[in-house]
Amino acid sequence: MGASEWRLIGNLADIPRSGARRVRIGEVEVGVFRTANDQLFALEDVCPHLGGPLSEGIVHGNSVTCPLHNLVIDLESGQSVDPKPKCVRSCMIRLEGDQVFLSNPDLHELASKRLS
Ligand code: FES
Repeated sequence: MGASEWRLIGNLADIPRSGARRVRIGEVEVGVFRTANDQLFALEDVCPHLGGPLSEGIVHGNSVTCPLHNLVIDLESGQSVDPKPKCVRSCMIRLEGDQVFLSNPDLHELASKRLS
């Protein structure tokens, strides 16, 4: 992907370790998650249960627990750990030096699905 296909959203230091930060781009809110071992993941910041803000959840291992009703979401797959798994849409994320980028095509996809 070329440079125009990535959107700079900030620095790694802006995202707390074992935590998350919400990024709003147009109508889309993305939760950017940083694990204890500095892996980064980006998911639409909407819990598939009842729309809770996943970026306000607790990050543990490669998962986040929704702050509203404790649904656990796997950050790699976006899928809930649940007898009836539900899925959160994800966005590719890239770290270059200490700068964090999200995939513009994925952001457009999230925006278009949100409007449909
Ligand atoms: S809204 Fe996330 S578990 Fe209910």
